[in-house]
Amino acid sequence: MMLLPLFQPFQLGSIQLPNRIVMAPMTRQRSPDGVPGEDVADYYARRAAGGVGLIITEGTTIDDPAGSPAAAIPVFDRSSATGWALVRERAHAAGARIVPQLWHLGIQRQADRSPQPDEPSISPSGLLRPDKMVGAPMTEARILSVIEAFARGARLALELGFDGVELHGAHGYLIDQFFWEGTNARDDAWGADRTRFGAEIVRAVRAATAPHFPIILRWSQWKSGDYEAKIAHTPQALERFLVPLADAGVTAFHCSTRRFWEAEFPQSGSALNLAGWTKAITGVPSITVGSVGLLHADVMEAREQAVDVDIERLQMLSDAIERGDFDLVAIGRALLANPAWPALVREGRIDKLKAYSVEALESLL
Ligand SMILES: Cc1cc2nc3c(=O)[nH]c(=O)nc-3n(C[C@H](O)[C@H](O)[C@H](O)COP(=O)(O)O)c2cc1C
Repeated sequence: MMLLPLFQPFQLGSIQLPNRIVMAPMTRQRSPDGVPGEDVADYYARRAAGGVGLIITEGTTIDDPAGSPAAAIPVFDRSSATGWALVRERAHAAGARIVPQLWHLGIQRQADRSPQPDEPSISPSGLLRPDKMVGAPMTEARILSVIEAFARGARLALELGFDGVELHGAHGYLIDQFFWEGTNARDDAWGADRTRFGAEIVRAVRAATAPHFPIILRWSQWKSGDYEAKIAHTPQALERFLVPLADAGVTAFHCSTRRFWEAEFPQSGSALNLAGWTKAITGVPSITVGSVGLLHADVMEAREQAVDVDIERLQMLSDAIERGDFDLVAIGRALLANPAWPALVREGRIDKLKAYSVEALESLL
């Protein structure tokens, strides 16, 4: 196999990554009172030792009263700083770069299950879905306070020695609730320009950190609960969406798709996926993701066949990185099942990889 492009270094803003393999952000409710402990630090260090170049942590909620959805989801503020410093230190000691994924769930937070049940959840228009109104629109003051909270989180990440931040602007959470017309029906400037909230967060994060501090913006067409939803139906609409975000200072776009090999706009005749289009339009580096190395994607019944399909897709991925379609690849579930996934792939021992299974999720370390 010629997968060498996956193992070439990459310059991301001010930092150099040892290779193109990124750990995708994956929530796990293992941080009592919002503070990650030794076990969380070891969980990430294991993936770092296994050869991941950049770790994006699980979603960690910013310092906002309507932020955290559950006590065991980590928060990213002064109260958890010692825990996060340990996570950062162990990941670095094991050879990876690491950024926290800063997250606000907005209207998807279930207040009654959260540590602050009396604090109502927030959103641009009170819409949980296009047809379901469950709250009041955020006031302008509240919008500005959340922008500040993202900036505080990024400043803390810098102070704790993290290599950058990822802003969770995907999957129907708060930033994406502003991005998508289905949940942003505001009649003020935050609705007339739906990228404005995300772009203002990027600007505030930049101002609170440093000129080349990596700011990754994760975004998706799909929403939790609506895989068919789209922000942009055409390349032209995609350009209108992305350019203001790139101009605001995004270092890399992390384009969340469920299957990386799917063409985003097949009607255009191009085979580019979402990360490919995003980079082509903005010139900003991009990260692809989606079912890499799962070993069960469509061919569960025969292991050899699954291995063959995965090898073929890894080659496709590596070729796309070599062409410069996109720059980095995030791996989620395959890295849960195989902490040493990058090392095994590099050594050509793909037949040694374990398939991911939902049942095993709870016991994965
Ligand atoms: C258990 C689990 C938790 C996840 N949590 C997050 C999260 O906190 N933030 C996020 O942006 N995506 C989250 N995702 C999505 C992943 O980052 C990734 O995009 C998705 O799993 C597809 O990649 P894969 O096919 O390599 O697993 C999660 C996925 C899984 C399986």
